[in-house]
Amino acid sequence: MELPTDREQRSIGFMLKRQIRWLWENMDPKYRRHHIIALCICVFSCILLLVNPTVSQRIIDEVIMTGNTAPLLGLLAIMLAVKLGREGSRYLMVIFLETDSQNVIYNLRRSLFTKMQYNDMRFFDRHRTGDLMTRMSSDLDWCRHFLAFIDYRIIDAVCTYVFSTLYLLTVNWKLTLLLMIITPILMVITRFLSKYIRPRFVFMREKLSEMNTAAQENIAGNRVVKAFAREDYERERFEEKNSAFMDAHLRINKLWLTFFPMIELLVNAIQLVTVFVGGIFVITGELESVGQLAIFTGLSWAVSNPMRELGNLINDLSRFSTSAAKVMELQYAQSEINDADDAEDHDRVRGQIEFDHVSFAIDGKPILKDVTFRAEAGQTVAVMGPTGSGKTTLISLLARFYDVSDGQVRVDGCNVKQWKLHQLRAGIGTATQDVFLFSDTVEGNIAFGAQDLTLDEVKDFARRADAAEFVDKLPEGYDTIIGERGVGLSGGQRQRIALARAMAVKPGILVLDDTTSAVDSETEQYIQQQLRELPFECTKLIIAQRISSMRDADLILVVEDGTVTEMGTHRELLEKRGYYWQTYCLQYGIPMDGSAAEETGKEALQHGQE
Ligand SMILES: Nc1ncnc2c1ncn2[C@@H]1O[C@H](COP(=O)(O)OP(=O)(O)OP(=O)(O)O)[C@@H](O)[C@H]1O
Ligand SMILES: [Mg+2]
Repeated sequence: MELPTDREQRSIGFMLKRQIRWLWENMDPKYRRHHIIALCICVFSCILLLVNPTVSQRIIDEVIMTGNTAPLLGLLAIMLAVKLGREGSRYLMVIFLETDSQNVIYNLRRSLFTKMQYNDMRFFDRHRTGDLMTRMSSDLDWCRHFLAFIDYRIIDAVCTYVFSTLYLLTVNWKLTLLLMIITPILMVITRFLSKYIRPRFVFMREKLSEMNTAAQENIAGNRVVKAFAREDYERERFEEKNSAFMDAHLRINKLWLTFFPMIELLVNAIQLVTVFVGGIFVITGELESVGQLAIFTGLSWAVSNPMRELGNLINDLSRFSTSAAKVMELQYAQSEINDADDAEDHDRVRGQIEFDHVSFAIDGKPILKDVTFRAEAGQTVAVMGPTGSGKTTLISLLARFYDVSDGQVRVDGCNVKQWKLHQLRAGIGTATQDVFLFSDTVEGNIAFGAQDLTLDEVKDFARRADAAEFVDKLPEGYDTIIGERGVGLSGGQRQRIALARAMAVKPGILVLDDTTSAVDSETEQYIQQQLRELPFECTKLIIAQRISSMRDADLILVVEDGTVTEMGTHRELLEKRGYYWQTYCLQYGIPMDGSAAEETGKEALQHGQE
């Protein structure tokens, strides 16, 4: 289903039609049948509604007015049976509606979660976590609310109104028309209400999302808040969002309170007028009996109540429509990065990498410019450069987290756009710069990408990442549950678990983004050694800041401001006397200024040869 245009979005009728069809499509056939039964029960209970006023009329006319009590018991029994029948059928209806709406919400939740899994990085760049959570929780709940509480009330209101009006017309058409006289006025009022209320709901929904985002960010960033002692500031920021949300709510209530008394007044007035005029009709003989007046008084609420309900329904429908639009937007979001129709099949990633005049821009902002390099399977490529120069972006093009703007990235000689995404990513093990660990056991975290790993293999990879020692000291070793995002471990420990996790998939390409930045030099040396002795063949792409991490690499790239400014081996780059050489001198404490430059260059080269 295509998303509606802006113009279509403004028409609530059009939106609702699409949204109801969409809910229907997400309901399993069995529950669709149940839902139809539930709505039929609703119609049936509306018909039952007409029986009791008729019985009341007979009690008045045949029992009270004549003093003959013989039919009383039978009539009371009918009344009781009708009441029980109506309540019983309604009970069944509610059970059906509850299970149907839960079925839809279950399907939608599953589909949204799956959708999010397969969406690309741009999607997550654009959507805030708080907003996504709002869609997955309160917006989804409003979709459920429609099926459980709104749609049957619409049918109930329409049927009650139509049936009772038709019935009253057969009793006395003049009095019925009087009762109906306010209907057009109410229609005009509700039209105004529906026009003005939806934008207010859209606004309120935005405020809710902003408030949730503020709360989510505050919880996720609680350490930063504490470290900067910014609790008061955060409290005020949340207070702002909270009151904005409340104000948005109040604006809706204010609008509602402008219309609601008008509706109430009209409905009550018309009921009074009906009783008054009805009384006169009985006196003048226009109505045949007092019993007929009893039918009118008994059913006048059945005509006026749906009108009163109209305002509530418009309110709820607008709220539902706002939320459904948000959920639909998420469900129909198209990932820009997908498998090509003619994607090639590959057994595995062997590890040859080629960047061919690659440029990359986000929203028109150039981030990488004309990057070209090549690495054979099994080689080690190191990338260094100042912060923000584009290193992380460069490696994210390899696993196609983003698509290049120009040029080609090839893995094993095949353009990454021609790879099946799943095969490509499964063959690339990545330890990202921001380490994220799941609230799971240490073993579960290491085996995240390779679920069939035995405990011994997990331990082996932990040892290679120099994590074995500290994991053994954890209270329950590999069964220790790590807190949310790895709470309970130090930065370096988290990095080592992430490294073990990346190695554990035995990838054809191992990508390490600043993975040893938080470990000491000795540990780093150990890890370097382990990387050289991996039990499987793989190409390593390592982003690092320490010269010691990259001096043995087959190829070193220096990225500055999105461009590869230097490229070569350790020796070649030292000779270039550029960024790499300067970094080398800085890290090894070799002076590089003025006349001494020639000498220190030699010194550096000697170091380089060591
Ligand atoms: N999703 C994004 N949207 C917009 N701009 C981005 C995005 N990701 C990165 N950038 C920009 O691209 C540039 C390169 O970022 P990148 O993360 O690749 O740098 P880096 O070299 O890895 O830096 P560091 O050494 O600090 O990790 C930065 O200027 C950054 O602002
Ligand atoms: Mg980075």
